[in-house]
Amino acid sequence: MGQSIGTLFGGNLNSLGGGTSITADEVTKNLSLNGLTAIVTGASSGLGKECARVLAKRGAYVILAARRVSVLEEVKALITAETPNAKVEIMPLDLCDMKSVHQFAEEYKRKNLPLNLLMNNGGIFAKHFTPTADGIEVMWMTHVVGHYALTMCLMDKLKETAAQSGVESRIVFTGSEAHRVAYEGGINFDALTDPSKYTAYQAYGQSKIGDILLAKMIGEQLKVLTNLCIPETLFIHVVDGDAILVN
Ligand SMILES: NC(=O)c1ccc[n+]([C@@H]2O[C@H](COP(=O)([O-])OP(=O)(O)OC[C@H]3O[C@@H](n4cnc5c(N)ncnc54)[C@H](OP(=O)(O)O)[C@@H]3O)[C@@H](O)[C@H]2O)c1
Repeated sequence: MGQSIGTLFGGNLNSLGGGTSITADEVTKNLSLNGLTAIVTGASSGLGKECARVLAKRGAYVILAARRVSVLEEVKALITAETPNAKVEIMPLDLCDMKSVHQFAEEYKRKNLPLNLLMNNGGIFAKHFTPTADGIEVMWMTHVVGHYALTMCLMDKLKETAAQSGVESRIVFTGSEAHRVAYEGGINFDALTDPSKYTAYQAYGQSKIGDILLAKMIGEQLKVLTNLCIPETLFIHVVDGDAILVN
């Protein structure tokens, strides 16, 4: 498994230089998130791990979601070492497996927690065509289908929380500048199932177009405040091991 941004840069995004001169710690300085509950997908590594750490540090109740529960345990330990009274919980989630997504949402609802913030962040980069069990290209399933399903399963909870608290709930997608390098014409649906049509960067790019379209659709049609952030160039794990520079 490759390195995450946390280990590559010692958790200090300033070391990357221009455009990344403000950290999550700095942005949230003097902010209290007490009473808010957040789900962060992809919390075992990179951007999700850092978001979860800072959300918990500022007082939010944070659900750490990803596939590798043992790594989430390590993240939880790191967070509580820094913030002993942090409210952090682990819930396994595989965005490529619709059964897992539904189980996650049902289990979440059974907890009777509010949901103020859903961070649809988990992601992957596949150098080679990699189909999921359903035969669909893995980046599209992870970034688009999985997050769409998760969001729809939790939509009632987001709206209920907003109605009860009077505080607008929020959904955040992690997009990428790579949306500019999708297949010619935008989304190539053939490339989702046909390895001969697949090129990695374009497939990644089109999955990030999918994130943009999802964020726009959810915000406009379902009337939930939805943001899409585009991080600077960092490292992302690839599906079969190494870390590479994207963008
Ligand atoms: N790094 C960059 O330069 C950059 C730039 C622009 C956009 N982004 C976007 O930012 C997001 C985070 O990237 P990152 O760099 O932080 O990546 P990362 O360090 O590789 O972390 C990816 C996270 O996603 C989780 N994940 C992967 N597949 C999953 C699945 N099927 N179900 C649930 N969780 C899954 C991983 O956990 P498990 O393996 O434990 O499941 C991990 O926690 C991605 O959406 C990426 O496209 C990154």
